Amino acid sequence: MATAELAGKHLVLGMTGGIACYKIAELTRLLTKAGATVQVVMTEAATQFITPVTMQALSGRPVFTSQWDARVPNNMAHIDLSREADAIVIAPASTDFLAKLAHGMADDLLSTLCVARDCPLLVVPAMNRQMWQNPATQRNVTQLRADGIDVLGPDSGPQACGEVGDGRMLEAAATFEAIASFFSPKILSGRRVLLTAGPTFEPLDPVRGITNRSSGKMGFALARAAQQAGAEVHLVAGPVALETPWGVFREDVQTAQQMHDAVMRSAAHADIFIGVAAVADWRVDHASEQKIKKTAGRALPTFTFVENPDILASVAKLPHPPFTVGFAAESGDLEVHGEEKRVRKNVPLLIGNLGPLTFGMDDNEVILFEAAGVTRLPRADKQTLARALIVEIARRLPDTDPIR
Ligand code: C5P
Repeated sequence: MATAELAGKHLVLGMTGGIACYKIAELTRLLTKAGATVQVVMTEAATQFITPVTMQALSGRPVFTSQWDARVPNNMAHIDLSREADAIVIAPASTDFLAKLAHGMADDLLSTLCVARDCPLLVVPAMNRQMWQNPATQRNVTQLRADGIDVLGPDSGPQACGEVGDGRMLEAAATFEAIASFFSPKILSGRRVLLTAGPTFEPLDPVRGITNRSSGKMGFALARAAQQAGAEVHLVAGPVALETPWGVFREDVQTAQQMHDAVMRSAAHADIFIGVAAVADWRVDHASEQKIKKTAGRALPTFTFVENPDILASVAKLPHPPFTVGFAAESGDLEVHGEEKRVRKNVPLLIGNLGPLTFGMDDNEVILFEAAGVTRLPRADKQTLARALIVEIARRLPDTDPIR
C-alpha cells in the first residue's frame, strides 16, 4: 500500500472495550509502516481485550491508560497528548464511548482527551447489530456527525456474538485506507469520476472465452486515488481478482458490450471519465449457447468476429462529454502512436504506458499526450503514479484550478 498521506503524521489511537481490539494490532502495524507515529491510549475496558504491552510493542511507544499517569510532567495527559496530534482515531469505538462523545462526557483519560482536543476526531464503531440499531446509538451517531466528527463504517456481516448484521468494525486494512483518505488533499472534491478497469471477457461458448492479461491494478489504483482526492467514484470493472478500494462504488461486468452499456448509463453525469480497461476490440458473432464439443474427425470450429463498441470514443462523442482520459498500451513506438491515437479517439488527454506492456506489473512509467505536447512522469509503483495522474487530471479540468 502506498501511503504518502500518512508519512510524518502523528495519530492518537484511542481504543475502547470490544472484541474488535484485535484488529487494532494490525491497524497499528499498517499505520507505523506507512510512516505515522501512533500514540495508543486505552480505556480500562480495552485492556481486558488486548494488553497495553502488545500495543506498546507494535506502536513503539508507551501506552497511556490512566488520567493520573505520572509520566506526563505537568500531569495533564488529557491536554498534552492531543496537542501534538494530527488526528485522534477511536478504534474500536464502543456504544458507550459514542454516547459519551455525543454528550461531551469526560470521565477517563480518553474521553477527556477527546473533549480537550484541538485536532480532527475520527471514530470507527464496533458493536453488536442491535446495539448499533438502537435508536439511542443512532441519535448519538447523528449528533457526532453534526459535530464534525468522521464516522468510519461500520461494516456488515457475521459478528463475534454469532449474529449477522451492521455494526462490525471495518477490517484493519479498510480502516487504514479510510484514515489515509482523510489526510489526502481533496483536489477532486465534489467531482464525479467514472472509470473502467481490467480486461473484458468475450464468450465463445458457456465455458470458453477470449480475454487479455490486464490485471486491473492501474484502474483500481486510479479509483482509489480519485476517492482519496475527494471524488465520488464509480468503477466499472471487468473480471479481476482485486478488492474494491474503500469508498468506491463498483459495478462488475464481463463483456465489452456490458462495459459500454454500464458506462453510457452513467457518463452523462460524470465530470471525468478515465478509460483504463483493456477492452476487447472484437467479440464472437453468435457465441454458442452449448459447450462446443471436441469430436474426433469433425472439422475444427471457426468463429466470425464482429467489432465491439469503442467505449472511450462513445463517451468523447457525447454532446457534453466529461473530461475524457484514455490509456494506450503499445508494444512499440508509443511516442509515434500516442498522439495519433489521442486525436483519433478525440480525447483531450491520453496516457501511454512506456516500454513493454505493463499488464500485471506493480510499476509503470507513462507519457501524457495532449494538444499542448507531451509530459513524462517518472517510473513509480502504480499507486504513486495514480496519485500523480489524479493531480495531472485535476489540473487540466475546465472551470477549476484546484492545485495552484
Ligand atoms: O484502441 P486502443 O484499444 O489501443 O485504445 C485504448 C483506449 O481505448 C483505452 O483507454 C481503452 O480503455 C479504450 N477502449 C475502449 N473501448 C474499446 C477499445 C478501447 O474504451 N472497444
